[in-house]
Amino acid sequence: MLHYLVFFVFLLFSPCFALDFLFNSFNSTDLLLLNDTRIESSVVRLTNDSNEFSVGRAFYPVRLPMRATNTSTTISSFSTSFVFSILPQITSSPGFGLAFVLSNSTTPKDALSGQYFGLFSNATTPSVAPLLAVEFDTGQNPEFNDLDGNHVGIDLNNIESAVTHTAGYYNSTGGFVDLDMRNGQNVHAWIEFDGTQFEINVTIAPIGVSRPSKPLLTYKNAAIANYVSADMYVGFSASKVTWVEAQRVLAWSLSDTGIARNINTTNLPIFLPESSSSSSLSAGVIAGISIASVVFVVICLSGLYWFWQKKKRIEEEEDEIEDWELEYWPHRFPYEDLREATKGFSDNELLGSGGFGRVYKGTLANGTEVAVKCVNHDSKQGLREFMAEISSMGRLQHKNLVQMRGWCRKGNELMLVYDYMPNGSLNRWIFDKPKQVMGWEGRRRVLADVAEGLNYLHHGWDQVVLHRDIKSSNVLLDSEMRGRLGDFGLAKLYQHGQAAKTTRVVGTLGYLAPELANVVAPTAASDVYSFGVMVLEVVCGRKPIETWSEDDPLLIDWVRELYAEGKLHEAGDSRIAGEYKVEDMERMLKIGLACCHPEPQHRPTVKEVVAMLLGEEASAVPGSLLSELTRGVDDGGSGEASAPAPPPPPPPSPPA
Ligand SMILES: *[C@@H]1O[C@H](CO)[C@@H](O)[C@H](O)[C@H]1NC(C)=O
Ligand SMILES: *[C@@H]1O[C@H](CO)[C@@H](O)[C@H](O)[C@H]1NC(C)=O
Ligand SMILES: *[C@@H]1O[C@H](CO)[C@@H](O)[C@H](O)[C@H]1NC(C)=O
Ligand SMILES: *[C@@H]1O[C@H](CO)[C@@H](O)[C@H](O)[C@H]1NC(C)=O
Ligand SMILES: *[C@@H]1O[C@H](CO)[C@@H](O)[C@H](O)[C@H]1NC(C)=O
Ligand SMILES: *[C@@H]1O[C@H](CO)[C@@H](O)[C@H](O)[C@H]1NC(C)=O
Ligand SMILES: *[C@@H]1O[C@H](CO)[C@@H](O)[C@H](O)[C@H]1NC(C)=O
Ligand SMILES: *[C@@H]1O[C@H](CO)[C@@H](O)[C@H](O)[C@H]1NC(C)=O
Ligand SMILES: *[C@@H]1O[C@H](CO)[C@@H](O)[C@H](O)[C@H]1NC(C)=O
Repeated sequence: MLHYLVFFVFLLFSPCFALDFLFNSFNSTDLLLLNDTRIESSVVRLTNDSNEFSVGRAFYPVRLPMRATNTSTTISSFSTSFVFSILPQITSSPGFGLAFVLSNSTTPKDALSGQYFGLFSNATTPSVAPLLAVEFDTGQNPEFNDLDGNHVGIDLNNIESAVTHTAGYYNSTGGFVDLDMRNGQNVHAWIEFDGTQFEINVTIAPIGVSRPSKPLLTYKNAAIANYVSADMYVGFSASKVTWVEAQRVLAWSLSDTGIARNINTTNLPIFLPESSSSSSLSAGVIAGISIASVVFVVICLSGLYWFWQKKKRIEEEEDEIEDWELEYWPHRFPYEDLREATKGFSDNELLGSGGFGRVYKGTLANGTEVAVKCVNHDSKQGLREFMAEISSMGRLQHKNLVQMRGWCRKGNELMLVYDYMPNGSLNRWIFDKPKQVMGWEGRRRVLADVAEGLNYLHHGWDQVVLHRDIKSSNVLLDSEMRGRLGDFGLAKLYQHGQAAKTTRVVGTLGYLAPELANVVAPTAASDVYSFGVMVLEVVCGRKPIETWSEDDPLLIDWVRELYAEGKLHEAGDSRIAGEYKVEDMERMLKIGLACCHPEPQHRPTVKEVVAMLLGEEASAVPGSLLSELTRGVDDGGSGEASAPAPPPPPPPSPPA
């Protein structure tokens, strides 16, 4: 009780105190720890791995005085320095990062997890405003104009940064050196905020590199004053969904009277992928091991250098191939060929990076354009099973599948070579302000194409091949703008890689069939569900989950509700209104809803979906199936709402 009283009195008078603190380690009473944040081995751990949606914040308990009064025009200055580490469990998973925060409140009312740092929402002004944040972002979100998946930005009430730069630092000769913030290494950051000049500088460097004299980011603008209240909470915030990313703050100092005190970085714990489980080792042991390893490595390196030079080629060509690899399918590409095709996996050739890894554009020696997908993988067992599967996939050929041409393995990295699809993925033609929005006819045709591709996977082969991750970003468009389904089977690889550690469901949130939350294995019906979500998404022009918040209405619930209210016509994408007959659009949505039926056994098979989409047998579509369309909507209600008139005569089916 006394504790709180003292704290309260302290708060009351806080504007009168200067702040100057230094934490070379943390205990649980040092900071306000909110939501999932905990102190683990003297380090601030912002999110909780076991929560699907996790948000965490840590604030200094005392507000930082920034203005003498609420109305004064002069704002004060501060200097801060901290050390952080960001370590994903799977290097190819989407990244989230963390943010240094100056905010007027500690608890946002509507903050979203995922890529929103647990701070921002879709509202124009965050509820903790004024908010000044420096984001250390390890994910690329095109919707916020992120420039890459490893950048630093200054955010003023807005997740779209005012200034941003790829992570790195300027060395003593002014050269820019990249810094990977996503490999667990300890990163030292310095932020100087000059209230008299309305200027903020951000500098980062790896531990062991002395403070660079030129900052990475500088933002100077009198408007900064609008993002500063009389006294503000100062701290850190981070969030994540589904994938595990450990965001840690290891040390922190701040001063509002001078330069922040130096952090002694010699004894900080190190969280690297291999040693993450041994983080509880004492610092002395770690230091001892580090020194011993350095000595060992130096000796080994000098001894092995010539040996390595000599053997390099042989190792790449032969030793790396394991016996079992030879069993599979002759289309193994030599690594060198792929390296040359992609200009050394150059960033200029990067087509995108998604849940499974990075995709590069490549041109083979014979001039063929290909897409090379690099899948990082840490389980050899999973890799082997996966090879068995893709070896049969190499034989899967259909005009609506992205053809796989071959593969290559180097260490734990698997490279899959596909035909290059010049028109990119379907989602780019519908979301995120595309240059040209895809029209109704195009959408209808692409959906039918995808259904045909999926039908081939499910029924065109002696054994059912499940896709497991159907979504608009996995649908690619060829030179004729026909839809092709890509990435089949990859979700399974992902699942194998995970199996040892967790039993997490694979697939993409928003597209996952409800039964997958409880049930063991994905089925053909769960693929149909994901397809249904995609139909709704494409027809409505809305993402399945607009924001990463638990209580946001999902697209499917929204459409179901409109259907139940008899207002399905309102669901169509307004950008292409007038291009379609309302009944055609509604029919398409009903097919989507039928596919999304909560009960797997009530969903149509993809064969039936193809028939409905192509309209070949429209007149023959049984009334019972049409009534199924609505089963998920009125939830066992009478047949009244579920007996729509048979669909209008179909449009002519596209040429095969
Ligand atoms: C936490 O650290 C502070 C100094 O930073 C110290 O005064 C306090 O006693 C510590 N509390 C615990 C529980 O160790
Ligand atoms: C964080 O914790 C607060 C208070 O316990 C709670 O109201 C809020 O919903 C939580 N926020 C999130 C995103 O979990
Ligand atoms: C993480 O969350 C789980 C479940 O919500 C909880 O049981 C566990 O104690 C949390 N871990 C930490 C370190 O707070
Ligand atoms: C600023 O205004 C709020 C109420 O609007 C008041 O609670 C707070 O004490 C004021 N702060 C200063 C430094 O005047
Ligand atoms: C900052 O928060 C205080 C209450 O904590 C509130 O009175 C004040 O209006 C807020 N300032 C701004 C600019 O929103
Ligand atoms: C934010 O999302 C909520 C829930 O989806 C929605 O009700 C609200 O209209 C959205 N606000 C904005 C500004 O987009
Ligand atoms: C600084 O970086 C550039 C490349 O970014 C490099 O060429 C140069 O050697 C570096 N200088 C020093 C002193 O490390
Ligand atoms: C920010 O960096 C610029 C350029 O190096 C420098 O001139 C300025 O003094 C710095 N400002 C602060 C507040 O450190
Ligand atoms: C940092 O800490 C180590 C071990 O505690 C100590 O030996 C060293 O002198 C310290 N360095 C500085 C600059 O204080």
